[in-house]
Amino acid sequence: MGFKALCLGLFCALFASHLYISLPDDIEEYWKVVALATIAKTFTFMGMCIERMGIIKYEELVSMLFRLDETQPVSDENVTVMDTEFSGVPVRVYLPKRKSDAPRRAVIYIHGGAFCFGSFKNAGFDSLNRWTANKLDSVVVGVDYRLAPQHHFPVQFEDCLAAVKFFLQDEILAKYGVDPTRICISGDSSGAGLAAGVTQQVQTDTGFKHKIKIQALLYPSLQIIDSYLPSHQENEHGIILPRDLAIKLVSLYLTKDETFVEAMRRNEHMPQESRHLFQFVNWSTLLPEKYRKGYVYTEPILGKHNFSFPGLMDIRISPLLANDSLLQNLPPTYILTCQYDIVRDDGLMYVSRLQNVGVQVTHDHIENGIHAALSFMTPPLYLHVGLRIRDMYISWLDKNL
Ligand SMILES: *[C@@H]1O[C@H](CO)[C@@H](O)[C@H](O)[C@H]1NC(C)=O
Ligand SMILES: *[C@@H]1O[C@H](CO)[C@@H](O)[C@H](O)[C@H]1NC(C)=O
Ligand SMILES: *[C@@H]1O[C@H](CO)[C@@H](O)[C@H](O)[C@H]1NC(C)=O
Ligand SMILES: *[C@@H]1O[C@H](CO)[C@@H](O)[C@H](O)[C@H]1NC(C)=O
Repeated sequence: MGFKALCLGLFCALFASHLYISLPDDIEEYWKVVALATIAKTFTFMGMCIERMGIIKYEELVSMLFRLDETQPVSDENVTVMDTEFSGVPVRVYLPKRKSDAPRRAVIYIHGGAFCFGSFKNAGFDSLNRWTANKLDSVVVGVDYRLAPQHHFPVQFEDCLAAVKFFLQDEILAKYGVDPTRICISGDSSGAGLAAGVTQQVQTDTGFKHKIKIQALLYPSLQIIDSYLPSHQENEHGIILPRDLAIKLVSLYLTKDETFVEAMRRNEHMPQESRHLFQFVNWSTLLPEKYRKGYVYTEPILGKHNFSFPGLMDIRISPLLANDSLLQNLPPTYILTCQYDIVRDDGLMYVSRLQNVGVQVTHDHIENGIHAALSFMTPPLYLHVGLRIRDMYISWLDKNL
């Protein structure tokens, strides 16, 4: 009995110390975030244990969790909501019920989830898209692309592009009463990376008659070639998305090759031929001084492994790698970054690169913001910072779309 109790005590102490979370003091709603971070960390810890026991893969477990959170297309007094397909890609369309004499603005929203998880059906995204449609009196389209690890690059990107291309046809825009000159592409996290890539493509591909008026990128993930930016170092044990987990998930988008994960953790995953691309993610020139702080830039180690799968050097997964002549074609852009976020520097560097070529950029930085805050806008766990981000995003859209 005493021995069992001792074991249990030891186990609990180990578990508690493993889960100990220290948060920055300026985090808003401190205890709520501690609870959230503890749940996330416990879940990840248990998920990894279960994976090691060979019961179920971590990513399958998380997918199940995301599916529990899915909603039906329910219309309300303001908005008609329906699920349909654009070119075989599932979409959820939100149409305001108010009478309108003129064609409406439209927002295409690409959800986040590290290329592996999530759906427009998730309560957080459904609530955001419904809110957008109602507040802006605009048509909103949520896009569900196929996910990793079942599907690899460029399937996720191609699905988003196909849905956008379908929507941008004259007869489809007319069917939904959309003004072709007032269309926005938005997304968050990996979805913002997809949104940025799709926008680059639409603006430069002569096959698209209608172009995008504006793009909104919320804590975007915009490159995979450098995994040791200052924000990666600062947020190694980040609240929602620690570095190891981010790398594990993004590598599932690229490949089944498990050796890649280790290489990316050591930032030794890029081949020699990629040397010329590092100028586009050179944080020693592209990050404002405030975020460079005491970090010392070191050249990446290239050619250690010579992985060669598609995507590694592709602007469709790393929109930050697009050259300046391509970036010049981009529409006015909203970028929101959060301080406590592993992908913070991707967003900050895109701000610099776009500004350097004269693209009009509005940048909001949330000093005490955390990654994925927008996903915590529905009970039981809703964060004030999520609502604030939503309101900043909506007010920019309202002024610029
Ligand atoms: C409908 O719109 C009104 C005015 O914006 C708002 O007060 C109300 O809460 C909305 N209804 C729903 C179900 O969102
Ligand atoms: C990055 O910028 C620094 C100057 O701040 C320069 O010394 C270095 O060569 C650059 N590296 C690459 C890969 O562009
Ligand atoms: C990778 O390729 C470079 C040349 O591009 C070569 O020097 C290096 O030895 C290769 N590394 C491995 C691990 O094969
Ligand atoms: C910039 O990139 C585009 C597309 O990747 C390419 O077609 C073009 O030739 C490049 N321009 C320059 C100046 O390198």
